[in-house]
Amino acid sequence: MRIVHTIAELRQALASCRHPAFVPTMGNLHDGHLALVQLARPLGDVTVVSIFVNRLQFLPHEDFDSYPRTWEADCARLRDGGCDLLFAPRERELYPRPQTFRLQPDPALADLLEGQFRPGFFGGVGTVVLKLFACVLGQTGGTAVFGKKDYQQLMVIREMVQQFALPIEIVAAETSRAADGLALSSRNAYLNPDERREAVALPQALQRLAQRWLDAPAQGPALEQQALDALRARGWQPDYLSVRRRADLQTATAGDAPGTLVALGAARLGGTRLIDNLEF
Ligand code: PAF
Repeated sequence: MRIVHTIAELRQALASCRHPAFVPTMGNLHDGHLALVQLARPLGDVTVVSIFVNRLQFLPHEDFDSYPRTWEADCARLRDGGCDLLFAPRERELYPRPQTFRLQPDPALADLLEGQFRPGFFGGVGTVVLKLFACVLGQTGGTAVFGKKDYQQLMVIREMVQQFALPIEIVAAETSRAADGLALSSRNAYLNPDERREAVALPQALQRLAQRWLDAPAQGPALEQQALDALRARGWQPDYLSVRRRADLQTATAGDAPGTLVALGAARLGGTRLIDNLEF
C-alpha cells in the first residue's frame, strides 16, 4: 500500500489508472470500513481510501478535536484489507485557505432529520466529498463506495453526483453490525461497557417501529412517539425516530407500500450520539 499526503503525489500515483474505486473515511477504521474496501476492490483497477477528519462537518460544540485519530492502526488495517493507495491529506493540503466556496445541498433533503439537529452538516460533508472526488477521481471518473448506515449522507451524495453530472458511480454498502445488531461506528468507541450493552436498544427500537408501522400504518405518528418515549424511558435522549420514504426521505403515509420505506433514528446515550436505520 502506498501512502500519499499531497494532491500532486496522489494525481501522479493515479496517472496510469483508468477507473479508481474510492472509499472516503475519517479514519478510526473498524470492520465496517474494511467491508467498504472489500466491496470497492473488484470495482476498479486501483482501490483508494482517504483518511481526513473534516472540520467543516462538525458543529462548534461537536467532537472534532477529540474525534479518535488512530493513524498507525488504520494503516495496518488498510494494508491487510487490500487498500492500494491511501490518501491522507493534512488540513492545510485540502484547505490551504478558508474554504469559502461550499456545496449547498437542497434543503428539502439536507435540512431534515440529521440536518435539523446538525445544521450545516451536509454542506460540510458535500464540500469535502466534492473536493475528494476532484482529487481522487477528477482525472478519470470512477466508483465511490459509501455505507448505508449514513443513509441521508448517501442520498445527499448521490443527488450531488447526479445534479453536477459527475462521472462517478456511487455504490451503497449494507450496514455492518456487531453480533448483537449494533451498527458498527467509530463513535461506538466512546461507549462505556454498560452503554455498549444498552446501545442495541436503538436498532431494536427501529425494528419494532418498522414492524408496528407495517401492522398499523395509519397510526404512524403515534407509533413514532411511542418509540421515542420508550427510548427516553431507558435513559436515552432521542433526536428522532421516524419512518420515511426511501425515495426522498419525506414523511411516510399510510398509502406508502412496504418495501419503499426506511425507519431512521438518532439518539444520545450518555455523551455518545448514535444513528441507525432500517429499510423495510
Ligand atoms: O462518512 C464519513 O466518514 C464522512 O462523512 C465522509 C464521507 C468521509 C466525509 O468526511
